[in-house]
Amino acid sequence: MISVSEANDVFVKDSKFRKFDVNEIRKDFPILAREVNGKPLVYFDNAATTQKPNIVIDSMTHYYRYENANIHRGLHFLSEVATEQYENARIKVKEFVNAMSVSEIILTKGTTDGINLLANTMCRADMLNEGDEIIISHMEHHANIVPWQLLCDRKKTVLKVIPINDDGEIIIEEYKKLISPKTKLVSIVHTSNTLGTINPVKEVIDIAHENNIPVIIDAAQAVAHQRVDVQELDCDFLVFSGHKLFGPTGIGVLYGKTEFLNKLPPYQGGGDMIRTVTFEETTYEDIPNKFEAGTPNIVGGIGLGVAIKYLNMFNFSDIQNYENKLLEYATERMLEINLVRLIGTARNKASVISFTVDGIHPYDLGTIIDTDGVALRTGHHCTQPLMKRFNVPATARASFAFYNTIDEIDVFIKALNKVIKMFS
Ligand code: ALA
Repeated sequence: MISVSEANDVFVKDSKFRKFDVNEIRKDFPILAREVNGKPLVYFDNAATTQKPNIVIDSMTHYYRYENANIHRGLHFLSEVATEQYENARIKVKEFVNAMSVSEIILTKGTTDGINLLANTMCRADMLNEGDEIIISHMEHHANIVPWQLLCDRKKTVLKVIPINDDGEIIIEEYKKLISPKTKLVSIVHTSNTLGTINPVKEVIDIAHENNIPVIIDAAQAVAHQRVDVQELDCDFLVFSGHKLFGPTGIGVLYGKTEFLNKLPPYQGGGDMIRTVTFEETTYEDIPNKFEAGTPNIVGGIGLGVAIKYLNMFNFSDIQNYENKLLEYATERMLEINLVRLIGTARNKASVISFTVDGIHPYDLGTIIDTDGVALRTGHHCTQPLMKRFNVPATARASFAFYNTIDEIDVFIKALNKVIKMFS
């Protein structure tokens, strides 16, 4: 277990990789030891939000207890400590995604905020105008659909959608056909929160770049499960949320290449993003401050930095291999149940399983299985067009993190069979 004193020192160097031992890892996450409805919690709703390790929780409490001050403003001791911690978090993010420069890391409220920032500022920068086309895919989260629709209303831009096959994979040939001289942007999810599909984003980016089209990657569901390297991908923008990465809610990241971020106007006006203000004219700070108006979520930033520090203790391929085993085992066990239909059977998948059970509404399933302590998500998962594509009103979804276990999957399968028996 990680000690509390370690949590207080976010500046310590990342340790050598920890041995991957799920029982030891579980001790880092206090919530996993609790019971729900008198049963040990089986938390399989990691695609909605991940649990937080002690090291993150303690760093945030420590900040409020001993270091709370506003950042970038005061010359007093506490302000300098808070500023250093917040900016240290930005450095951690920069290293985590391998950005070229720390100024390419904008700290936002989350993935949704990052995409709205881009839609708003691209529109005002006249990067997107009447008749211009934006390509997204059929498996996008509403956060990567609605901001573009708002933009389309305002600028009369056109949204085009890459179709997917019955396994829930984008059809690359159809994507190529959608590209036209009018295409000005591609915005696509890296890993689907509903299907678990890992998209061939490098290929999508390369095809777009051959046509001089910039690409936004929604990595909200990817970053906790695999290394995402913005230079290797060569994406122009990338967004994700802290809370799906074992960090707090209300904090997220927008990465952008310097050349693009410099072209975009500020998103919101206020303190901290200006250089000079007069009633006649205002000049703005350089990136990243230009996009960070007002007092930010300081403690959220610190918590996110510590979450990355925690993840850095592990070899990411150990996490990936382990999660693949969970996915494989759970998929096999679910396929043994006749009435189960899996929604999303892509060849390249993260540890997310959406499913329906014949004759049982997902809401009933989710409510009843909860009485056995099993937390699933049920609903449309903020992907209504995807539900329509698979002709289902909703699905149940089990999504795993690296602290879940094979034993928990057995508990889940037993509870699922119990629900099915109740309805038969
Ligand atoms: N988008 C989140 C999910 O997939 C909330 O559940």
